[in-house]
Amino acid sequence: MEIAPSIFAADLGNLEAAAEQCRRGGARLLHVDVMDGHFVPNLTFGPPVIAGLKDKTEIPLDIHLMVSDPDRLLDLYLDLEPQWVSVHVEAATHLDRTVQHIRERGVGAGVVLNPGTSIEMIREVLPLLDFVLLMSVNPGFSGQAFIPYVLEKVRRLRAEIDKLGLSTMIEIDGGVDGDNLDEVKSAGVDVAVSGSGVFGAEDPAARLSELLERARA
Ligand code: DX5
Ligand code: ZN
Repeated sequence: MEIAPSIFAADLGNLEAAAEQCRRGGARLLHVDVMDGHFVPNLTFGPPVIAGLKDKTEIPLDIHLMVSDPDRLLDLYLDLEPQWVSVHVEAATHLDRTVQHIRERGVGAGVVLNPGTSIEMIREVLPLLDFVLLMSVNPGFSGQAFIPYVLEKVRRLRAEIDKLGLSTMIEIDGGVDGDNLDEVKSAGVDVAVSGSGVFGAEDPAARLSELLERARA
């Protein structure tokens, strides 16, 4: 399993330092939470801020779009050439077209499900996806408690992916820290996002490298 640190939980007054902590900690993917103040009750990074971050780091970006009507803004984020972009199934109207568009732009495509959304919602598009992101908190804030029933969703989705012989990856996001890392890993997660689990530590780089060592073992 990999861990993608979530920059949203870092000191946002110094994104360059946060990116450097992630590099020193050994991150291979940097999770960037885009919130529009509409789909979720919070606002974070727009394309110019992410472009600034991208200038300061070589770690590939994983852009999580928590926005209503993602098609309206998608190209602005695809222009940043991230490794991954994900859209919420609850926000996308023409999910198949949106996913195809992300892939045509050469970016890994993911669909995100809120904790209360069933994995049945993505059954048809599953073969088109590079990854599925299962939220383990309700989106909008970092530092919330992990919702345990999501582990059962992970197991069911893992079984479905294996049954179909797909290489779709499973990412989980919200409340992942040293206490639940092993459970998350054994449920079948490929990439765990961690915000406060990393940046809440006195030394985020050291915490990340410690978690990564356990995750990759
Ligand atoms: C929540 C975000 C998460 C958040 C994770 O809406 O999508 O990526 O930053 O933070 P923690 O790990 O603190 O729950
Ligand atoms: Zn996120």
